Amino acid sequence: MQEPASDKLKTNDGVRAASKRRPAGTKFDFMVVSNRLPVDRCTSEGTEDDDGGWRRSPGGLVTALAPLMTKADGAWVGWHGAPDETVRPFSHEGMDLVPVQLSSDDVELYYEGFSNATLWPLYHDVIAPPEFHRAWWDSYRKVNRKFADAVSRHAADGATIWVQDYQLQLVPRLLREARPDLRIGFFNHIPFPPPEIFAQLPWRKEIIDGLLGADLLGFQRPSDAGNFMRSARRFLGASVKQQQVHVKGPDGAITHIARAQAFPISIAVEQISDLAKNPAIIERSRQIREDLGNPKTVLLGVDRLDYTKGIRHRLKAYEELLDEGLIKVEDATLIQVASPSRERVEQYRLLREEIEGTVGHINGTYDTIQNTAVRYLHHSYPVEEMVALYLAADVMLVTALRDGMNLVAKEYVTARTQDTGALILSEFTGAADQLKQALLINPHDIDGMKNAIMRAVNLPVREARRRMKGMRKQILTHDVDHWSADFLGALNEKVVRDDS
Ligand code: F6P
Repeated sequence: MQEPASDKLKTNDGVRAASKRRPAGTKFDFMVVSNRLPVDRCTSEGTEDDDGGWRRSPGGLVTALAPLMTKADGAWVGWHGAPDETVRPFSHEGMDLVPVQLSSDDVELYYEGFSNATLWPLYHDVIAPPEFHRAWWDSYRKVNRKFADAVSRHAADGATIWVQDYQLQLVPRLLREARPDLRIGFFNHIPFPPPEIFAQLPWRKEIIDGLLGADLLGFQRPSDAGNFMRSARRFLGASVKQQQVHVKGPDGAITHIARAQAFPISIAVEQISDLAKNPAIIERSRQIREDLGNPKTVLLGVDRLDYTKGIRHRLKAYEELLDEGLIKVEDATLIQVASPSRERVEQYRLLREEIEGTVGHINGTYDTIQNTAVRYLHHSYPVEEMVALYLAADVMLVTALRDGMNLVAKEYVTARTQDTGALILSEFTGAADQLKQALLINPHDIDGMKNAIMRAVNLPVREARRRMKGMRKQILTHDVDHWSADFLGALNEKVVRDDS
């Protein structure tokens, strides 16, 4: 269902619509619902990944779900990124998309406020202090209802609905109430905090109750699923048996069983492997190294510009290594891709200032006319350029302070088809559960991180190969198709009640 390039969106009475959409009233047997659609309206012209008014949305969620939705015969419900703009359902790159309209107020209170200044820091170990505001919560409730209504309108009888991530935790319950015929799954892409931290949330009961509307709740790590079940027991008094929560109605009778399990997410392995073997991309990676002056070592960090990613800690370790002369600017360059993210949220604005100040300080101190210590790129790049960067990098730095999974780590390993290179990986990422042969670090331990960087820079070829081979084996056998098939298979399983 590819849309012809010349026939994208037309404005019609202020409502945007695409000509190649399904007939109005089409009902879908399978629907994914996430805060963002896989594409965002772009208001600025001429960005590299701009596709006629749409560009790929940021983040791991889209990376993981787009391959499934390109193949599946279903629809994706989400916000299209432009406040106050109504867009009719349309198709894009083979996906049926159902836009949900958010007002400027919704964006400020539900998205920037409750989702990204309350839940995001709360669920990521309170690295930044979460803010609790009743007006944000009211908006979160209202917007979750909007998403649930959009799904209800477009879902066929008995459809399977897969709700994604922390922005939409009330949607499972709202859907169950509106459409008891639906099969409802939920997947949390970010960590679920321990009850001792979750306890801070004034609306902790409502969130747990919202999630328990689902038949199956998926988490990145077993510890996230465990945290959720402990919170369900502690804050709602739910009866939890193994991986099952027996959900009761107002009369005390069991209405359904909600299961909570880990389903670690992955990437489109074939796509990345194919790109990594593509001669044009290999040539581009050679060009990148040449443009950097062919240093002995290229180090790489790729992150959304987010305080959970440990970019400050990484720069601190790197600066100390330069300062101590263990790394010389003539021999090594650190490329830091920091893609723009949530730029109107205060903590993100402050972070950007701090990172850019630090990079300026490092470069001012250590650069020569010919060599740059840190190449800082505040951009997003298309996947082809990302793979060229992965191929150009001898050392990949993933130093997150807390991360649900971290798909960049998996992409780097997948791109290293020659089994070369080294991955430094924070033990506080979901990926660390699977990529055990990485050089694992605690990013708070700056000396430990410095030792790991030096080890990676000097890693003997045989050891590098052994480690990379082990990690590649894990990822090649657990790609994103496995992830979605595992989740959807479990969602549609008949559940036997566990009373043990
Ligand atoms: O995976 C976490 C996540 O918040 C996704 O839900 C989201 O799509 C992505 O990161 C990017 O964040 P945002 O949509 O706020 O730009």
